[in-house]
Amino acid sequence: MPDLLTIDRLRAGYGDAVVLPQVSLAVAEGEALALLGRNGMGKTTLIDSIIGVTRHRGGTIHLAGRDITPLRPEQRARAGIGWVPQERNIFKSLTVEENLTAVARPGAWTLPRIYELFPRLEERKANLGNQLSGGEQQMLAVARALVVNPRILLLDEPLEGLAPILVDELLAALRRIVRANGVAAIIVEQNAGKILTVCDRVAIIERGSIVYQASSSAVKDDPGILENHLAVTDTARAVRTDGWASLASARRLARAVIASGT
Ligand SMILES: Nc1ncnc2c1ncn2[C@@H]1O[C@H](COP(=O)(O)OP(=O)(O)OP(=O)(O)O)[C@@H](O)[C@H]1O
Ligand SMILES: [Mg+2]
Repeated sequence: MPDLLTIDRLRAGYGDAVVLPQVSLAVAEGEALALLGRNGMGKTTLIDSIIGVTRHRGGTIHLAGRDITPLRPEQRARAGIGWVPQERNIFKSLTVEENLTAVARPGAWTLPRIYELFPRLEERKANLGNQLSGGEQQMLAVARALVVNPRILLLDEPLEGLAPILVDELLAALRRIVRANGVAAIIVEQNAGKILTVCDRVAIIERGSIVYQASSSAVKDDPGILENHLAVTDTARAVRTDGWASLASARRLARAVIASGT
């Protein structure tokens, strides 16, 4: 498969801070890539750089052979970059259906197909954005990115903060989007185990650099890889959601931090 998205020696950050010193990464046509990494390692910054809202300092991004580096964010969106931000920016004062029709563009992903994928959204189509649960908002955020009919979908932690049943529902939908329909995607996740069942390939980012890439099946066969690169994240998350409730998790974090040498 030819590359759909090619990032070549991208250097970017915010203001004076260089968060990504030099990132090279490619996603093939129809491929789903899981972008993994601990907190603060640069996952969102990389996604932000692809959509074009970081400070660009060098390198290029090509989409289907076209250099999109000089394009503004809205021009990149028109060129086919679809984006679901970490903080789900749906229109809260519009209904579910209005959220979708406001941004829809012609293509394979029509409203009926979206509703087939997310029956819950069809049930809620007359509800306002602010009347939706967190899980429904996340589904709407994904649906909104899809009705634009992008060439590649960028999802930043789509499962974050969702109840387990909704995690499974959203994962099933994502699997259908990327597996059955061949939509190319980069999915940022902390929940590495779950996302491996959706994605073809894994890239791990550490301090703004891609330090590891392999097929999902290779990673499944060698779980030590994820432990080495991501162990602190999982513990830090656990501690964060526990609100430091348990001393045991605090000890786990301390051990993980010491082990990682950070
Ligand atoms: N707007 C900003 N201005 C300056 N620095 C920023 C900004 N946003 C993020 N950073 C810094 O860039 C680094 C990477 O942050 P980023 O949000 O990309 O990490 P992340 O991997 O997405 O983390 P998380 O898992 O917490 O979402 C961090 O050191 C962070 O402090
Ligand atoms: Mg992030």
